[in-house]
Amino acid sequence: MTTERTLVILKPDAVNRELAGKIISRFEEKGLKIIAMKMEHLKPYVLSEHYAHHKDKPFYQELMKYMSSIPCVLMVLEGKDSVKVVRKLTGITASRDAEPGTIRGDFSMSTQMNLVHASDSIETAKKEIARFFKDAELMKYEKMNFEWVYGSDERGLKLGKK
Ligand code: CMP
Repeated sequence: MTTERTLVILKPDAVNRELAGKIISRFEEKGLKIIAMKMEHLKPYVLSEHYAHHKDKPFYQELMKYMSSIPCVLMVLEGKDSVKVVRKLTGITASRDAEPGTIRGDFSMSTQMNLVHASDSIETAKKEIARFFKDAELMKYEKMNFEWVYGSDERGLKLGKK
């Protein structure tokens, strides 16, 4: 159990379908701490870096068009095991098969327009956060309900420490 940071992007369909607030609430209600959030119209150069591992996939061009179509909401979430927790809340890529109760399972019918990007590992999260956020944009503050979100054995642990 480590305190981790993870990158979430609310994709253009989340913004256009007016689901951003609902999706952000899911993360907040779970107990994750929002330490950065902004809206940005993502440029092709940053998207080509972000999706470099999909470059040869048949859906790549459409993915680039979709992701650069209108602004996205970008967030950094912090919490114990947050990379895994956020991936679980998000649900699998192919939204029609995603479990009910997950964001994609409840709100999306599409594999491409699947509302949310979430980092897939701690290492990826570090790279992705640095790609989209400056250090100064990552807020440091105490969450008032912290001691009601985690048990005493889970509190007071330093970032990245067991
Ligand atoms: P995500 O898993 O967050 O990152 C890669 C994105 O590419 C994925 O979400 C979808 O938006 C898109 N994608 C993945 N697979 C397909 C597919 N088979 N067809 C269209 N888009 C896809």
